[in-house]
Amino acid sequence: MSKIQKKELLYEGKAKRIFLTDMEDKLIQEFKDDATAFDGAKKGVIVKKGEINNAISAFLFEYLENYHIPTHFLEEISANQMLVRKLNIIPVEVVLRNVAAGSLCARYKIQEGTVMEYPILEYYLKSDELHDPMINEYHAYAFGHATPDETKAINRIASKVNAILKSFFDRRNLVLVDFKLEFGKKGTEIYLADEISPDTCRIWDKKTHKKLDKDRFRHDMGGVEKAYAELRDRITNS
Ligand SMILES: Nc1ncnc2c1ncn2[C@@H]1O[C@H](COP(=O)(O)OP(=O)(O)O)[C@@H](O)[C@H]1O
Ligand SMILES: [Mg+2]
Repeated sequence: MSKIQKKELLYEGKAKRIFLTDMEDKLIQEFKDDATAFDGAKKGVIVKKGEINNAISAFLFEYLENYHIPTHFLEEISANQMLVRKLNIIPVEVVLRNVAAGSLCARYKIQEGTVMEYPILEYYLKSDELHDPMINEYHAYAFGHATPDETKAINRIASKVNAILKSFFDRRNLVLVDFKLEFGKKGTEIYLADEISPDTCRIWDKKTHKKLDKDRFRHDMGGVEKAYAELRDRITNS
């Protein structure tokens, strides 16, 4: 257990709070039970989500570190808080899709559940004001968010994370449908940041296709808390 000191709130987002600490290169990432969907139009609470997302994210970041994926994760410091490296976040959301769901279905008129013949990698600008518009790598260069070398590193890490997590979930009879990643820079190094949780992934049971992620909240499907807890148990009891 670290004796790190929590200092002032640096940023409060929709699902997490970020605190400074007495170490200038480390932050505390605190996960909230608050949930939002559809660009913040839908708001609610998922009881225990903070603890569950902290536990799942910590587990998966540690798992990925074993495969030499550089992540911001340092250690879990309480049920809903983790210590992370302080990074300059690249304001790009990197989405990986293995199976059609969500906005992809409407945009390209593809039925939900259609298995992609090759994983799709998409970039979205992280901007609530602009409603996270889709961009490509050239926008990222032009807007000064990342260099070609940096997007090359990001794409390589994202693809590797997908391969690792796809087989991790498959072994637990789960399908990794899609997920969103954020990256940050520290000097010239790129790290995987933010969270990997049912808020940021779509995960289905392999046999029943039961959804075990935030889609239950988005579409008022019920059993949200139960699904989050079930997913945590299936991920961490291994
Ligand atoms: N290691 C890190 N260093 C600095 N900022 C981070 C780090 N990891 C995540 N963040 C940022 O902290 C915020 C997390 O809170 P969140 O509720 O997800 O915010 P938002 O509503 O902006 O998505 C995000 O803006 C995310 O980009
Ligand atoms: Mg966020």
